[in-house]
Amino acid sequence: TLIGALSVSLVMAAQPAWADDGYALWLRSIAKVDRQAVVTALGDSATLTLAASELRRALPMETPAIVVATASAPSVRALTLPFSTLGDEGYLVCNVTLNGKRVILVAGNSDRGTLYGAFALIRHLATGGQAAAVNLRSAPKVKLRVLNHWDNLDESVERGYAGQSIWDWWTLPDFRDPRYTDYARANASIGINGTVLNNVNAKADSLTAPYIAKAAALANVFRPWGMRVYLSARFSAPIELGGLKTADPRDPAVAAWWKAKADEIYRAIPDFGGFLVKANSEGQPGPRDYGASHADGANMLAAAVRDHGGIVMWRAFVYAETDPEDRAKQAYSEFKPLDGTFADNVLVQVKNGAIDFQPREPFHPLFGAMPRTPLMIEFQITKEYLGFATHLAYLGPLFTEVLDAKTGQKPGETVADVVDGQAEHHKLSGMAGVANIGRDRDWSGSTFNQSNWYAFGRLAWDPDLSAEEIARSWAAQTFGTDRQVIDTVTAMMMGSREAVVDYTGALGLAHLMATGHHYGPGPWVSDLARPEWNPTYYHRADANGIGFDRTASGSNAVGQYAGSVAKSFAKPETTPESMLLWFHHLPWDRRMASGRNLWEDLVAHYDRGVAYVAQMQRQWEGLRSKIDAERWQKTATYLAVQEREARWWRDASLAYWMSVNHRPLPAGVRAPE
Ligand code: GCU
Repeated sequence: TLIGALSVSLVMAAQPAWADDGYALWLRSIAKVDRQAVVTALGDSATLTLAASELRRALPMETPAIVVATASAPSVRALTLPFSTLGDEGYLVCNVTLNGKRVILVAGNSDRGTLYGAFALIRHLATGGQAAAVNLRSAPKVKLRVLNHWDNLDESVERGYAGQSIWDWWTLPDFRDPRYTDYARANASIGINGTVLNNVNAKADSLTAPYIAKAAALANVFRPWGMRVYLSARFSAPIELGGLKTADPRDPAVAAWWKAKADEIYRAIPDFGGFLVKANSEGQPGPRDYGASHADGANMLAAAVRDHGGIVMWRAFVYAETDPEDRAKQAYSEFKPLDGTFADNVLVQVKNGAIDFQPREPFHPLFGAMPRTPLMIEFQITKEYLGFATHLAYLGPLFTEVLDAKTGQKPGETVADVVDGQAEHHKLSGMAGVANIGRDRDWSGSTFNQSNWYAFGRLAWDPDLSAEEIARSWAAQTFGTDRQVIDTVTAMMMGSREAVVDYTGALGLAHLMATGHHYGPGPWVSDLARPEWNPTYYHRADANGIGFDRTASGSNAVGQYAGSVAKSFAKPETTPESMLLWFHHLPWDRRMASGRNLWEDLVAHYDRGVAYVAQMQRQWEGLRSKIDAERWQKTATYLAVQEREARWWRDASLAYWMSVNHRPLPAGVRAPE
């Protein structure tokens, strides 16, 4: 049968030799055969042509005829399909009779929608779905699905662990590395529609004519794949580039400089997305330098891009060394009063938690607290605090834990409702992910890190997907449809982030890492000039207890949360144990749900984290014969590194805690080495 033939050809599909190094990402599991005859495009735009060629490239031998089209094609219009609910970028994929022939129709209202539909069909087939019964329909819930590259103009990548930047600024704009196309294609396959090319710690040079030309060359490559280019803007650029005396956003000369700069960019990149700005944070210039507010700064830039349809993504990751307030509170204190004062083409971009991409943080209290402002969420795909490229940590559960969190602001409202704009019917909505992409052959430093890029894209499209279904679908597309492989890989992935939490410091502890590079333990560090950079600032451990009192008797960060959420965080008894020490300072003897005391429980978490990694090693060993040697070996090696380093985290941390609390290890627990 057709179905039988399809699944056989999927399983048997020969992998091209170059695929084994991970370069092909998740777009690899179906044979490449020339299916010219099978796929027809009704129209000849660059994007529709890509949609057709992607299908030809991916399809197995036995496939029914496929037509790619937009809703406006006359023969498609005649079918009266439900296009009205699909918006600009949605798609449907279904079996229809077109001009008297049974075909699979892949169509959206725009050719971008059609391209997403083509990738959805490829995903459907690559994950074991059948062509005969295909019926897919989806529209993105979030409008701006954007990667943030922390890539510098010298081609280093801040917090990047996959090699140098993929942007070769030196040879751009003339040479357009084919890799740029592969990059855009991978992004389009998961629905990502924008990319900020340069680091938030921006250099003014990125706004000079030569760099605008380079960005334009990239934008030309990305455009047919539905991706727009954005730039991080250095707020003081009018001084550095324009020779002005000030960058005060209220100064008309400053506003005029930015307007002229925006016009210049739009002449080169007519669909330029807009600016991302890190202002008055970690030494970056900003409107506060002049006594102006973040809204003054954002609105001035927003006015510069407004006529071109551009937007401004203004980051709320703001804290000042001069501010004695709990660092976890500062962004809320600064931004909440500004709600309602931002221009309508501004989004405020808020990190998922109030500190900085820790293995676990409670959701940022700004979500739900600024109903009159579209808030983008910013996740970190690159694993700055979760073991760089070497440790296996699937971030799907981290992302969904935050997206699914109830804000407490309105009945039932979740962070996802705020982010996708549903809560307040905002016109703009967005999700940003700090990219983990570099020049490594496998793009992300390891095969499993690719899953975090993938999960980010899938969740930006639909924040209501489950981390597990994303993991399964990634596993099938990455390693093939063998049941044992998918089950094992998914099982490894699903607990892997919690394992990192366990071996780096569980129960709501955070920011215990070594200084500067952020790899490895450093809970003892207390001598950094900025108090809020010291791990001791966060854990506050002494002989009696541990944790940060953020209740009314402490910093009262709890007071920034609302309703039932604030209520539950206010007392240790009602705070989830996973966040206990984030909000409370408690005695080592405190009784925990496990029946153990806090100290014993903490030790058990360290042990559990180490054991999980050892278990992943065994699971992976069991897949040796089922995965190509190159990807298998690299992963096995990295798991061995991770196991060693999980023990390092455990042992160093326990030795330190014991030096503070002078407690023995619970009976039967292995002493730190
Ligand atoms: C973290 C990270 C920095 C980065 C900053 C930011 O602090 O360590 O490298 O610049 O976040 O998000 O702006």
